[in-house]
Amino acid sequence: MRLPQNSPSSAESATTTTRSAPVTVEGLTVRYGDTHAIRNVDLKVKPGEFVSLLGPSGSGKTTLLRSVAGFVIPDSGRILMGDDDVTRLPPRYRNFGMVFQRYALFPHMRVADNVASGLKTRRVPKAQAKDLGAEALALVGLTAEARRYPEQLSGGQQQRVALARAMVIKPSLLLMDEPLGALDLRLRQQLQADIRALQQRLSITAIYVTHDQEEAFSMSDRVVVMNAGRISCQGTPEELYSSPGSSFAASFVGHNTVFSLGRADVPADGTIAGLPGQERPFRLTEPVAADTSSVHFVVGIDHIRCYDHPAPHAEEATVLGRRFTGLNELVTVQVRDTIMTVLAPASGPEAGDRVYISWDPGDLHVIEETADGSVVRAGRAVDSSVASPGNSSPRAVVGQ
Ligand SMILES: Nc1ncnc2c1ncn2[C@@H]1O[C@H](COP(=O)(O)OP(=O)(O)O)[C@@H](O)[C@H]1O
Ligand SMILES: [Mg+2]
Repeated sequence: MRLPQNSPSSAESATTTTRSAPVTVEGLTVRYGDTHAIRNVDLKVKPGEFVSLLGPSGSGKTTLLRSVAGFVIPDSGRILMGDDDVTRLPPRYRNFGMVFQRYALFPHMRVADNVASGLKTRRVPKAQAKDLGAEALALVGLTAEARRYPEQLSGGQQQRVALARAMVIKPSLLLMDEPLGALDLRLRQQLQADIRALQQRLSITAIYVTHDQEEAFSMSDRVVVMNAGRISCQGTPEELYSSPGSSFAASFVGHNTVFSLGRADVPADGTIAGLPGQERPFRLTEPVAADTSSVHFVVGIDHIRCYDHPAPHAEEATVLGRRFTGLNELVTVQVRDTIMTVLAPASGPEAGDRVYISWDPGDLHVIEETADGSVVRAGRAVDSSVASPGNSSPRAVVGQ
């Protein structure tokens, strides 16, 4: 990683007045010493689109966002805003607004001055700065608080000020890095809705970093799942929920159960038998691809039945624990060596109780991956009308 240079080559052309710049990231790699923070990332964000980068801590979300902002210069790859290559353009010429997790307000400045501070460095005349500042404060509903100091505001209000400060320059791109992480749940939900509404009203292009899947799902047009510096898969919230594009996303998002088989455990005729909770064999409709090294069978929690009594085709399981999410009662069960999370039957079984689990092969989502975790293909259906039981008994079943 190198620090940005100070000599802009195409500052004027990169500073656009439209609020909906498309962003293109091509083959981006950033290393810190031996650590690959991001590896060969490609990403396109459409004008006016709200894209979330979702992934666990350390997956490279912040590094990718800071590269788009210009705080990090990549080791290789390019970043375009519109048609302009901004890869080496200093941040102040990129015309984005940014909101960080920590409010980063100036404590000794009134709210109005905090908001207008971004205009000063751009040498906007005072009278115009005042109007623009008032306009930005109105956007976030804080007109009445203009003369207060940050410490006289709640956390949620402070983050609204940070948002107003990001918006005051009329950016063509809004970048947010876990901006609501420090707020309690209720405020967070309120601000999620407010930020989304503002972004849609202004149709500003937005990239939003979060490790919270509910937040990503509720706000975004598209969610990009990151893992270990790479984009694992991406899609609309609905697509990711119903048909995750990688085994990592399937484990990270929702409450899927993922059965993972090594290539050697899939017989040549593609007949699979003996997965936990499924006594009937089924068959892959196509041969496994040449470079596939693992095959993952994903079943969503909505498709798993859990009975408190023996039922046809259901396999016995032991309840390990239960958890109330506020919406659902979930139980964690063990079927042979596999741990699954399922919706609790009405009887509300306790740890140690016996339950019976089943699911249909027709509801499986199949993902094939290479040895390094790249997705070969995802979403294949299986043929569940296999008449005779297959003789394969998978050895390496890993449930989740
Ligand atoms: N300034 C830095 N110096 C060294 N390593 C860093 C630095 N920033 C990030 N990293 C490393 O890069 C990887 C990605 O970090 P980051 O982009 O902050 O991930 P995330 O935002 O998803 O938590 C991590 O392994 C992290 O430790
Ligand atoms: Mg981060």
